[in-house]
Amino acid sequence: MQLATADPGASLVGYRDLREWLAAVEAMGELKTVRGVPWDREMGAMVDMAYRAKGSGKCPAILFDDVPGYPAGYRCLYGMMASPRRFAFTVGGIDVKTAHNNIEYLKQYRARMKDIQYIPPVFVDRSPIFENVMEGDDIDLFKLPVPIHHELDGGRYIGTACGVITRDPDTGGLNCGTYRIQVHDAKTCTCYISPGKHGRLHRDQYFERGQHCPAVAVVGIDPILFLAARYQVPPGLSELDWVGGMRGEPLGVVRSKYTDLPIPANSEIVLEGEFRADERRLEGPFGEWPGYYAGGKMEEPVFRIKRVLFRHQPILTCAASMKPPHAHLYERAFTRSAALWEGLEKASVPNLAGVWVHEAGAGRTFNVVSIKQRYYGHSRQAGLLASQMVPVAYGNRWTIVVDDDIDPSRLEEVIWAMGTRCDPKQDLEIMSKCWSSKIDPMVFDQHYYNSRVVVDACIPYEHRNDFSRVAETSPELREKMLTKYRRDFHDLLGEELV
Ligand SMILES: Cc1cc2nc3c(=O)[nH]c(=O)nc-3n(C[C@H](O)[C@H](O)[C@H](O)COP(=O)(O)O)c2cc1C
Repeated sequence: MQLATADPGASLVGYRDLREWLAAVEAMGELKTVRGVPWDREMGAMVDMAYRAKGSGKCPAILFDDVPGYPAGYRCLYGMMASPRRFAFTVGGIDVKTAHNNIEYLKQYRARMKDIQYIPPVFVDRSPIFENVMEGDDIDLFKLPVPIHHELDGGRYIGTACGVITRDPDTGGLNCGTYRIQVHDAKTCTCYISPGKHGRLHRDQYFERGQHCPAVAVVGIDPILFLAARYQVPPGLSELDWVGGMRGEPLGVVRSKYTDLPIPANSEIVLEGEFRADERRLEGPFGEWPGYYAGGKMEEPVFRIKRVLFRHQPILTCAASMKPPHAHLYERAFTRSAALWEGLEKASVPNLAGVWVHEAGAGRTFNVVSIKQRYYGHSRQAGLLASQMVPVAYGNRWTIVVDDDIDPSRLEEVIWAMGTRCDPKQDLEIMSKCWSSKIDPMVFDQHYYNSRVVVDACIPYEHRNDFSRVAETSPELREKMLTKYRRDFHDLLGEELV
């Protein structure tokens, strides 16, 4: 069968679809296949326990096969990009081995992203996605091993590591966003899209005209499209064009029969249908990114499925958010750090030394910006802007600004700066009525605001030249020690100091 893209050698990423990606990740030693685990809470629990034990960035991708009650080969995959090597392989063009810390690695990634020329998708004649088709009365979503991901979820969620494609009815622009999809019966789903997200804006535009909103949900997805779908790509740009840019060649698509939307030809499982303007179901609860089942059960528009397409031995891609750390947090923290850095740079904040959107803050609520202070008010400018900027404007609570001698990705350094360079009486700026949603556990009514704080943990600018000296080995003495005692350090620490 012809795949969506040409020879992977010609592409800027080294795989054409999820299967080639899996083979490469297995060869790296970063894939674990586990057999015989039921879909009913046990896959989710195993992933949670493994990632919690190992910590963010350190666990293999987990592929469940031989799911009881399902044919062999009907698989569920968790943790696609949750390690530096898997993430680097997914985006292509960067080398983690030459990066000594998160910020150096982030710089490589930002350099890779700078040169992207966005490329729109092209229609191709054939795709393996048509190997299996369920249509009309034949549609039965439970033929796929859809998990209950968390113990207290309100049902089985087919869409977690997914991309929901919709079209702006006014401009024709395409969006692909990751929004959770619950299965209610064989043909009926709901999809929760929080206010302000592009898919929600599209859907509301159709509903305001009294029309149903056509949608294609890719629930067995090429990892790089999943990355795009959860990313806030530049305004007006389609995630499909972004993927083309990352690949250096267009994404191959086929036409959806029931919507006017493109279907990525290298997908594993696709649902075609429409969000109904006139039908709602109770959706949720679902374990969410802040780490709670907040939001409970609420009515959401029905996603009526008209056709299901899937490859032989399909792979359902899964990403169940929960209390950190979890199986898609590493790449979330990483890409959001890059996007926030980019945003601050574009907003003309000078002398940025690093940005880190922390895993412990669930990749949204605790964010650190490091700067080389140049003028009075520079640190407040950086903090206030960062607190309101995509991708952390929604749901953020803590923005910390530190000097450039602090690695913003190392919590112990950040907390040390907060404890020694910040006077809470003068250095906190609190804002109210900021952007949040029903899944924020601190939102107790239906007014979806939060408050947030900027903590200025930089040395006061007026004391930059007379602040107490830091009690640590100087770079000069460090260099001398390394030269003189390299073997002792190696024996002592079991690794090279850099
Ligand atoms: C695993 C995962 C699940 C997500 N689930 C939802 C969801 O259910 N609803 C939602 O509005 N956003 C969800 N998001 C966040 C959006 O995907 C993200 O904000 C994305 O940028 C939205 O795309 P858009 O900017 O095109 O709207 C999820 C993200 C991830 C990584």
